[in-house]
Amino acid sequence: MAGWFITMEGPDGSGKTTQIQLLKQELQKQGYEVLVTREPGGTSIGEQIRKVILDVNNVAMDPMTEAILYAAARAQHVKELIQPALEQNKIVLCDRFLDSSIAYQGVARGLGMDMVEGLNHYATGGLNPDITFFIDMDPVMGLQRKKNQAQLDRLEKETLDFHQKVYKGYLALWKKYPDRIHRISGDDQVESIHQQIMSKVKERIKRGLSYEYEINHGCHS
Ligand code: TYD
Repeated sequence: MAGWFITMEGPDGSGKTTQIQLLKQELQKQGYEVLVTREPGGTSIGEQIRKVILDVNNVAMDPMTEAILYAAARAQHVKELIQPALEQNKIVLCDRFLDSSIAYQGVARGLGMDMVEGLNHYATGGLNPDITFFIDMDPVMGLQRKKNQAQLDRLEKETLDFHQKVYKGYLALWKKYPDRIHRISGDDQVESIHQQIMSKVKERIKRGLSYEYEINHGCHS
């Protein structure tokens, strides 16, 4: 498939959304067509599912129900928005994707990383990001930032222990997929984080293009 699929991950309050906007502006300046989207959500059906999942009144929601709802929103997202955009050679920047389900539902809710990964295989049809940035921030700091900004949703209202587990989940994912997941310290300044992300994206696109060139010109070993 053409296009590039880039995802941004990290604990709540790690600054992912700001970084996606900065990345989008820079890539557009360089002439790329960019689609920015987010999970859960991104489509009309997905946004409806998002409301159900994050509703603070839904305290009775079972972890499996939660995992399936995130996966359902993702299935719609991939088919309706992400895949078509990639087929049109766009760069898709997605605020959270499959890794969030593995960290939150797989590790923090205790469903297991493999189980959640397997479930989501059906939802994504096997689509994986080309590059994932993990903005590494202490969950206590992240939550503090969130509290100062907005009302907390059902997941953000979880205990600190839950958020520590989410964080451990991200560290485990980073270890498991070192080629795909790039860790960036969330303690750095916004502009410095942006520069680190930008240089990785440029390097990766350049590498991808030269790989395609080699294949097309028959000199790939
Ligand atoms: P998000 O809108 O990204 O929240 P924020 O902007 O505050 O980071 O995500 C909403 C919440 O949903 C967030 O707490 C993380 C959680 N989440 C999961 O538990 N599993 C998932 O698969 C996804 C995509 C998000």
